[in-house]
Amino acid sequence: MPEWLKDAVFYEIYPQSFYDSDGDGIGDLQGIIQKLDYVRSLGCNALWLNPVFDSPFLDGGYDVRDYRKIAERYGTDEDMKQLLERAHQMGMHVLLDLVPGHTSDQHPWFLESSKAEENEYSGRYIWTSHAFEGIAGHPYISGMKERAGAYMLNFFASQPALNYGWLNRTESWMSAVDSPEALATREAMKEVMRYWLEFGCDGFRVDMADSLVKNDDENKSATAAIWRDIRNMLDREYPEAALVSEWSNPVQAVNGGGFHMDFYLDHHHNGYNTLLRDYETEGGDHSFFLKEGRGDIMRFLNDWLPKYHAVRENGYISMFTCNHDTPRPARTLSEREMKLFYGFLLTMPGVPFFYYGDEIGMKYLDVRTKEGGYQRTGSRTPMQWDSSKNHGFSVSDNPYLPTDPAPSAPTVQDQLEKKDSLLHAVRDLTRIRHTYPRLQADGPFEVLHAMPHQFPFVYARGEMIIAVNPSGDTAEVPLECDAEAVYMIGECRIAGNRLRIPEQSFIILQNKAG
Ligand code: GLC
Repeated sequence: MPEWLKDAVFYEIYPQSFYDSDGDGIGDLQGIIQKLDYVRSLGCNALWLNPVFDSPFLDGGYDVRDYRKIAERYGTDEDMKQLLERAHQMGMHVLLDLVPGHTSDQHPWFLESSKAEENEYSGRYIWTSHAFEGIAGHPYISGMKERAGAYMLNFFASQPALNYGWLNRTESWMSAVDSPEALATREAMKEVMRYWLEFGCDGFRVDMADSLVKNDDENKSATAAIWRDIRNMLDREYPEAALVSEWSNPVQAVNGGGFHMDFYLDHHHNGYNTLLRDYETEGGDHSFFLKEGRGDIMRFLNDWLPKYHAVRENGYISMFTCNHDTPRPARTLSEREMKLFYGFLLTMPGVPFFYYGDEIGMKYLDVRTKEGGYQRTGSRTPMQWDSSKNHGFSVSDNPYLPTDPAPSAPTVQDQLEKKDSLLHAVRDLTRIRHTYPRLQADGPFEVLHAMPHQFPFVYARGEMIIAVNPSGDTAEVPLECDAEAVYMIGECRIAGNRLRIPEQSFIILQNKAG
């Protein structure tokens, strides 16, 4: 387990939308380099970059055409070298995005695989035997290629599924997981990983990590076994490298697959969803962090706590503010509500991830789809740095996506100037997390006070005690310890063994008795 994860606070950068250094209207690697000081100033000591590889960009770069080539619009190998060196000098680690489940249909492997004559890549993707034979229960395309057969898709139409084999094989064309062609795919992906680890990256966020083996069992044990094999490779060859999965099943991903961390994704009505984005419940938004107070922390705990206990010896559950697929939290949360959420995120176990722009409360925008974003595009608009043209993102007259046209659009500049801004709260909170090891990824966790439909939620991380009351009403709880406040939002008070925590407030205490 890489030690550096314990105190890691990640910042996700969607490269096309962060900072355009050359004025062509799209973000690039030099732009990221120029803004590393800003990211570091937030207290973030690790980055996740969405795919930066050569691609036709029909799915924001998740349609890779060449795993070993930096997309021209982002720069060159030299730029990536500089970015990694500079980040490392600043004490930051960098994860790249590995897309192992599929490639672009323009990838040379797929072009070869589509040929009628058999060749080295014929088995690299999933093909049926005849042009008239589909794949029941799975998306596929037929009639577009010279090769007689339908090919399976892993996501959009431009993303054919790589072949890692099938666990439950019902057709003759389904490869076994240990067939030469499935093993060749796996080894090719390991080579891609080695290539970037040798280049200097510190690991990978793994896209659709659970999607490798088809017709897998309910525990995804065949897919997990592949990742376990890859983890073994890392342990032997790159023990400091980290892997975080897009899986959202930490028992399978961490305990099974050997991932160091698994993302807790926003899935309708799971624990994470009930915190920020519970829009679809009857009777209005029931998100825990909304002032309306319709939330219930038990809905989070009942889902998260058993998973936390199940994986804590082996790895971490990663919560985030948002990602490039999810509506931004400021779509519904006020600045105050966002502060309380950051307070929670930065005092919970596991490795936290920020999504660029959430630290200033960037809004979810109503914009037209771009590069396969569809409704996700509203969370992918350019970073708002200041009040200059395109909010300082680009000097171009034609940026690839607009920034927020609202007069109230938040910017880094404004947030820096305002003393009580969200940005300052985020900085203070990350500093506190770095100061008190108990608050970090592997520190202890214990629920002190959590009642259905009641506030506050109080928990301990060793001698640190955290209380959060997102509701609009003052709350009080017994607090039988000699504690002193380390940080608070709102006027919290300890008197006579009771903690009084006003509406929309948050406090971190340190128990002096240890
Ligand atoms: C993941 C990515 C998403 C992408 C999809 C296909 O869910 O986060 O952006 O479209 O995989 O690669």
